[in-house]
Amino acid sequence: MQFFRTLGIAAFACLAATAQIGREVGAPVRLADGQEFILSDRALIDHGRKLFDAVWTPQEGGMRPLTKGTGAPVSDPSSPLAFPRMFNRVSGLDANSCAGCHNAPYGVSGGGGDFTTGVFVLGQRFDFATFDGNDFMPLRGGALENGQAGSLQTASNFRATPGMYGAGYIELLAREMTADLQSQRDALQPGHSVALITKDVTFGTLRRNLDGTWYTADVRGLPTPSLATTGASAPPSLIIRPFHQVGNVISLRQFTNNAYNHHHGIQTVERFGAGTDPDGDTFQNEMSRADVTAVALFQATLPVPGRIIPNDPAVEAAVLAGEEAFASVGCTECHRPTMPLNNPVFSEPNPYNPPGNLLPGQVPQRSVNLNTSSALPRPRLRAASTGVTYVPAFTDLKIHDICSGPTDPNIEKLNQNAPAGSAAFFAGNSQFLTKKLWGAANEPPYFHHGQFATLRQAIAAHAGEALASRQAFDALANADKDGIIEFLKTLKVLPPGTKDLIVDEDGKKKNWPPN
Ligand code: HEC
Ligand code: HEC
Repeated sequence: MQFFRTLGIAAFACLAATAQIGREVGAPVRLADGQEFILSDRALIDHGRKLFDAVWTPQEGGMRPLTKGTGAPVSDPSSPLAFPRMFNRVSGLDANSCAGCHNAPYGVSGGGGDFTTGVFVLGQRFDFATFDGNDFMPLRGGALENGQAGSLQTASNFRATPGMYGAGYIELLAREMTADLQSQRDALQPGHSVALITKDVTFGTLRRNLDGTWYTADVRGLPTPSLATTGASAPPSLIIRPFHQVGNVISLRQFTNNAYNHHHGIQTVERFGAGTDPDGDTFQNEMSRADVTAVALFQATLPVPGRIIPNDPAVEAAVLAGEEAFASVGCTECHRPTMPLNNPVFSEPNPYNPPGNLLPGQVPQRSVNLNTSSALPRPRLRAASTGVTYVPAFTDLKIHDICSGPTDPNIEKLNQNAPAGSAAFFAGNSQFLTKKLWGAANEPPYFHHGQFATLRQAIAAHAGEALASRQAFDALANADKDGIIEFLKTLKVLPPGTKDLIVDEDGKKKNWPPN
């Protein structure tokens, strides 16, 4: 079997290579649908990494003359997005490869990025951002949906680039949490209410009116799209959306379909259709279902962040005390030190994918055990003797308002979770997913906007729902504040090849907490 698998990809690569003489492309080898079920985990994930690293060119569909980064047709088809309108740092194409942004630390693809790799999220509503005040055509280059002039600060939300280390575990936690919330919803009879709770995280109260319709105003921590309901037989989905820092996207796959079009003009078949060319670049079928599965699995199976704890006794003591103080001042209320995962088998597609992405039942599942597959880069998490895998991501996967009020500069100008152009969209947003803190120490810059270079600045910006814990932090003795910082500084993405989750500064396995 292994022999045929190897043969399969070799023959395909060879065929592709001869047809490529003289061509300049980033990804000469592509998968045909079905190959995702034939290739080994290792071969499929390796292919996904190559597509993540690929530097796309117009010779393989790497442009989108007639399509915006949102996937919609351009507002002004008479000015297609071809040279010299092909690249634009605000509206896209804004990079040559996924890894061009996602490569920190260690220059390894799949990670986070420096401030310079941030994205002007929602800037892709524009054909080609110019902010020319004399251009009145909505969303061509200068004017907003309402015809008013936009600016760099009002037309997009700048977001820093997070890493995907451990992302498969995060998506699986979200799937299990969604299943719990939906079963609590489904058991709810008209005239009753239920306190939503999953994995010890509370999500407020869902009520059902006597006529069977749903009352969601007391649900907490879920983004608006997960609360939408149009009647008794159309309940709110209550889907946990762990991706995008405002909790907007459900799966790595959905993000991948968005990102290839937005950043690179590569249109996946499952999103844009087979045998069509909506972006007008003369290429059809720019990326197959099998290719998207490979990229999603590459991201899902990246190693998990761990801890690097220096052997200096003074640092060790500070870290120990800081970890306790982190809990005692209430940081762990949102930044949960671990979340329990019942099943570590990651399967494509996500059962809650929205249309426009591979949906459950369309093809068989392609699964990888995140804990035990020998094909995956280490370190991995291991299940406890109970079978539960504890995921130390330091998040609750809820969105929270930790802003101090309407004038807080951490508020975003646009609400990505409201329909673009609506009043709610322009009213802004103050709710963000509890940042995962695993890997934080070597994935700066901090906060959704990347304006903070230190963890201390990030803590100081906590108010709103986090006010009590921020004030408790402020009231600590300096040594305890420093301890919390030293504790956070141990939460790191580990150097490639590290086998253990907790190591010292030389990469040697470390027992922690010490006995
Ligand atoms: C120009 C830089 C840039 C490029 C190119 C880029 N990304 Fe990203 N990526 C970002 C930023 C910034 C975010 C954070 C977005 C947000 O929170 O709104 C992000 C977020 C993500 C996330 C969600 C992570 C999370 O925890 O929320 C995934 C998944 C992802 N990118 C995959 C990709 C893939 C796949 C590609 C290539 C097709 C890609 N990205 C290309 C900058 C980039
Ligand atoms: C009410 C929930 C809540 C509490 C309590 C809370 N946080 Fe946060 N934390 C968040 C949210 C939400 C973000 C993301 C904010 C953003 O991106 O705008 C965040 C971000 C952070 C970041 C930035 C990480 C990064 O990579 O950008 C750090 C560091 C942090 N918190 C530490 C703490 C510490 C220390 C405490 C206790 C003093 C604490 N938090 C208490 C919700 C909370």
